[in-house]
Amino acid sequence: MLSETKFKNYFEVFRDILRAVHSSTSVNEVLDVVVKKITEVLNARGAFLRILNKETNQFEVGAGYGMGERYMHKGPVTTEKLLPDPSDLHKVIIITDIWNAPRVEYPQQAWDEGVRMMLDVPLAIEDRLIGLIRVYLEKQRDFSDDELEFILTVAEQCTCIIERVQLIESQQAHFTHLATRMEKMSSLGRMAAGIAHEINNPLGGILLFASNMNKKVEPGSPFEKGLKIIIRETQRCKTIIQGLLEFARDKKPHKVAADINNIITTAVGVVQNEFYLKHVNLEKHLAPGMVKTLLDENQIEQVIINLLLNALHAVEDHGRVSIKSMVYPEQNSIAVQIADNGCGIPADEVKKIFEPFYSTRPDGTGLGLAVSYGIIKNHQGDFNVFSEPGKGSCFTIELPAMIEKTNTKEGA
Ligand SMILES: Nc1ncnc2c1ncn2[C@@H]1O[C@H](COP(=O)(O)OP(=O)(O)O)[C@@H](O)[C@H]1O
Ligand SMILES: [Mg+2]
Repeated sequence: MLSETKFKNYFEVFRDILRAVHSSTSVNEVLDVVVKKITEVLNARGAFLRILNKETNQFEVGAGYGMGERYMHKGPVTTEKLLPDPSDLHKVIIITDIWNAPRVEYPQQAWDEGVRMMLDVPLAIEDRLIGLIRVYLEKQRDFSDDELEFILTVAEQCTCIIERVQLIESQQAHFTHLATRMEKMSSLGRMAAGIAHEINNPLGGILLFASNMNKKVEPGSPFEKGLKIIIRETQRCKTIIQGLLEFARDKKPHKVAADINNIITTAVGVVQNEFYLKHVNLEKHLAPGMVKTLLDENQIEQVIINLLLNALHAVEDHGRVSIKSMVYPEQNSIAVQIADNGCGIPADEVKKIFEPFYSTRPDGTGLGLAVSYGIIKNHQGDFNVFSEPGKGSCFTIELPAMIEKTNTKEGA
């Protein structure tokens, strides 16, 4: 058992550490208190707290107290040196012979500092080591079980703090990374839009002159084939540039109270012929009692056409595509669902399909979904994709509804 004065000392140290945990804003301040208090209560020469850097697999000094300058500036130590046996992860390792302990990297330096004994206290969460406190003592002595228990309890507290801070830091790093990426994307977008604009006009000129020459060229002339290629490829460039301009423009929607069923009907009318030519059946199910929604009709029509054409491209001849509208009065929203029984999208590709220029089609621009996503977000809506390779895909867009009292027959 601990003597009463010792117990009091330990209690005070514990209280001071807990106070530091609650009042400090920086983890270093807390770790400084820990090494100082441990040194004092154990009547030691000093203590070092090292934290494992997962990337380099080395222990780096987190806090130090009581040892000479030379010690404070010692570099990181590799894990092999300090890694305790898995069975020792929650025990205090007592080093009585510093000259012959493989864990001690610089015995001479320690000896010169007057160190004759060391304690290694692993900071571990379950079977994962995150750091280590090393206590340096000037005299050999015995430690009671209660003392060792106390040291381990302090270590447990430190482990929790370090773990929490590391979690916050990694989240911050992740957010910073995302923010930088977004910033890069938007400046790239601006640059791309500028370039697209510059290229669009000369492309128009090339197309005009090539078309005129094509009209004048004699049938069978050696130029005929070349001109056709120029026209086709220039048109392809124009389609890509057009898509890029749409994507970069990020036009503010001009919203009016509209009926999504009417927009679906118009969009289906636009693509109907393409479906017919490919012998693909397009089913339309419009929700009765559709409520009005604040929409930019042109933009939403563009999204629906994009989704219908994607579905058409995904199915084989004689495939099936359906478009359905739904009303969710409880959620105050409406939805449009476009489903196909086409090739589907592999699970790891789904997250990429909204990225600009991601396309698996030889003549695709990869901008359809990127533009559609931007439009739906500008309408405070949501996109949902469910897809099974080989079976088909289902794209749902959900939009906030403008439930007009005069329109909700049920509630009136
Ligand atoms: N209904 C669908 N079924 C299978 N894959 C799809 C579907 N819709 C989109 N995709 C995938 O998403 C990619 C990106 O679509 P999109 O942005 O419209 O560009 P694009 O149609 O020009 O390829 C497509 O190339 C395709 O791989
Ligand atoms: Mg597309």
